[in-house]
Amino acid sequence: TREAKLDLVTKHIKPFPDFPSKGILFRDICPILKDPVALTAVIDLFEEHVRQTHPQVELIVGLDARGFLFGPLLAQRLGVGFVLVRKKGKLPGPTVSVAYKLEYGEAEVEVQEDAVAPGEKVLLIDDLLATGGTLCAACELMKKQNAEATSMISAGFFSATKTLRRIRASSSSRDIITR
Ligand code: PRP
Ligand code: MG
Repeated sequence: TREAKLDLVTKHIKPFPDFPSKGILFRDICPILKDPVALTAVIDLFEEHVRQTHPQVELIVGLDARGFLFGPLLAQRLGVGFVLVRKKGKLPGPTVSVAYKLEYGEAEVEVQEDAVAPGEKVLLIDDLLATGGTLCAACELMKKQNAEATSMISAGFFSATKTLRRIRASSSSRDIITR
């Protein structure tokens, strides 16, 4: 069942207090990848969710780096393609980028200019949300490409209701699987 799968996945996300710095609770998804049953369960949950809520999705867009671990598996299940949103400076050829603020400092995400077609229905995937900043920047990137970012899913946890509000306020992203 869905509940059993969520339980299994939850058990495979290991919290590390004060990593990478004091006051941060790091949620490690490595144990999911190490257990084929848990990995199948998480992709099952994603697949069921997407088929029910966004059956029209045409492309999965994964966020660098841990979104790359789940995105291609989900894309294969759905029979659609996978595109990489990368941290700045990693993609060859013409790219489009969006800068965003981190808690300390700045970051920038990029996608290849021809990776997403105007009007294409894309779904963004990452391992988890903290502030939602990375996800919001990736949504901006999709808007710049005139793609239709229908949804977002995440394997792990979000840390604050503030994050959820931020995500929901972003016009292009609505659905999150988590607990
Ligand atoms: C982590 C995580 C999310 C992001 C969430 O990525 O995988 O992508 O932070 O934080 P936010 O909601 O505040 O933006 P990170 O860049 O730390 O590492 P990664 O390259 O291993 O995915
Ligand atoms: Mg990440």
